[in-house]
Amino acid sequence: MRRAVCPGSFDPITFGHLDIIARASAHFDHVVIAVLENRTKSSLFTVDERIEMIQETTSHLSNVSVDSWSGLLVDYCKSNSIQAIVKGLRAVSDFDYELQMAQVNLQGSGVETMFMATSPTHSFLSSSLVKELAHYGGDVSTMVPASINAALKLRVGGK
Ligand code: PNS
Repeated sequence: MRRAVCPGSFDPITFGHLDIIARASAHFDHVVIAVLENRTKSSLFTVDERIEMIQETTSHLSNVSVDSWSGLLVDYCKSNSIQAIVKGLRAVSDFDYELQMAQVNLQGSGVETMFMATSPTHSFLSSSLVKELAHYGGDVSTMVPASINAALKLRVGGK
């Protein structure tokens, strides 16, 4: 069984994440979306809220499940017999940090990282940008599913 993990903060999940998850699910028997802590970021939604949002927006993908983890990603992979980490690359600016993480993860555990090119439609998209726009009442309806847009409005206000 080929199992992969799509890790991230998903605070909140965007159409960019959903694009990568859907495409990854076509290449593996099972894909786990793992909500992980990124110690460099503060979060708007709790882990449970993020899990619920991801479950709802990926319910059409039968081989995808959602989980959370608060340790090293490679330890999660080992405990769950996951052979591959799948990440989306939006632009060159993502590359340095992602390459470092991929190399550290490979060296430490042998877990491979596979990068997928983000669809050009989503190359500028990030959860941080979505939160910034939503905070000031900007329109994020083309960036996140309707239910996430509604949750953002409830949490930060705006239009
Ligand atoms: O969506 P993000 O915030 O860019 O995702 C980054 C994330 C959560 C995947 C990364 O910070 C991570 O893997 N955190 C778990 C702890 C870990 O394994 N750190 C070592 C990476 S070298």
